[in-house]
Amino acid sequence: MNILVVGGGGREHALIAALAAAPSRPTIVCAPGNPGIAEIATCKPIAADDIDALSDLARSMGADLVVIGPEAPLMLGLADRLRAAGIPVCGPDAAAARLEGSKAFTKDFCDRHAIPTAAYATFTDPHAARAHIRDRHARSGGAPIVVKADGLAAGKGVVVAATEAEALAAVDAAMVDGAFGDAGATVVIEEFMTGREVSVFALCDGNDAIMLATAHDYKRVGDGDTGANTGGMGSVSPTPRLTPALEERVMAEVIRPTVAGMKADGAPFVGVLYAGLMLTPEGPKLVEYNVRFGDPECQVLMPRLQSDAATLLRAAATGSLGTVRPEWRREAAVCVVMASRGYPGAYARGTRIAGLDAATAMPGVTIFHAGTATAPDGALIAAGGRVLGITALGDSVAAARDRAYAAVSAIDWPEGFYRTDIAQPDDPPPG
Ligand code: AMP
Ligand code: GLY
Repeated sequence: MNILVVGGGGREHALIAALAAAPSRPTIVCAPGNPGIAEIATCKPIAADDIDALSDLARSMGADLVVIGPEAPLMLGLADRLRAAGIPVCGPDAAAARLEGSKAFTKDFCDRHAIPTAAYATFTDPHAARAHIRDRHARSGGAPIVVKADGLAAGKGVVVAATEAEALAAVDAAMVDGAFGDAGATVVIEEFMTGREVSVFALCDGNDAIMLATAHDYKRVGDGDTGANTGGMGSVSPTPRLTPALEERVMAEVIRPTVAGMKADGAPFVGVLYAGLMLTPEGPKLVEYNVRFGDPECQVLMPRLQSDAATLLRAAATGSLGTVRPEWRREAAVCVVMASRGYPGAYARGTRIAGLDAATAMPGVTIFHAGTATAPDGALIAAGGRVLGITALGDSVAAARDRAYAAVSAIDWPEGFYRTDIAQPDDPPPG
């Protein structure tokens, strides 16, 4: 099997490590890849959003499967193009990718298909949005209210506003000042939900969905969930926050109705559906959908996968999910992200990283590359915000965490930093 993987982060490194270990022995090309990926696959220097060049590459290499890692090429219609050329793709068409690309679309979809999510209203007029906030705020006794830019805003489009003034400022930033460009011309204003957050990953073939695995991640840059939002500073799989009964509820109340609803609406969903959920007192509710694997969540999912990753993803791409059943290791996985000092703000590039061989030799440890590059003298250097994903398997979350942090200590990179509290047990719920 000839497989093209699109992307070049830790997510794609983890995917390719699983594909490279698959008993079906696929041949793997990655665009653009990174130095870690280059050790196990052929990398082509094509950007993940250059959908013309990616379509040409898939055709010229005779791809039997294209796996699209990031959201940008999905929104741009790469999957549509490849499917039109008869190439199986694990990733949704642009119409189905709206589940991630438009919050207003998704809220409306949930409403029509009775999928549990926060109560909401959508606005294209800032006056109406402000009036709604004043009214809701008065009626909710001042509880936080959530203001979201409709479109993709690099993780910055969501404001959980503690005060009315903050909520009004969020509306002005998105709708009047144009802080997120077109993505903020429409805003969704939501009821605030309380509970713990979890992520559920399902594989979909347009008709059916099967559960892959669960995880949770750590979005804020600082220990104790403080500081700015990031792409994710760490992750754990499976998440101890979900029971098997709750997982089944998520499949029955959220995932399967979504796949059925998208099919009924004429936009069948093929690929990985990643549900971000809040475990509220009334049950699991959808916070958001992503239409791809999460990063760093993929870095804790793939090391746990026992089944042939190539067969599994191709089954989704070819409408034959009924033929596969993923098997997972019993071990837990923990990923600690090492990032360049300053991330998610400004950071230096080109700083030298050593110690990977010693860290990788530790039991249960795998290191996934994200923003790395190779210096002219061959040294590994940092070339992005999130740079390495230090992942470990262990018999328990605590054992995996200890192994991951032992490996982090072996990395010699003075200009890097990481959170020290990834995968610590949750505090008991308040009250
Ligand atoms: P989103 O981009 O929609 O996932 O939102 C980013 C983060 O904002 C989520 O992971 C939650 O922590 C928080 N959030 C979003 N919507 C809500 C909500 N309705 N209630 C409470 N927190 C929320
Ligand atoms: N870790 C969050 C995401 O991939 O969107």
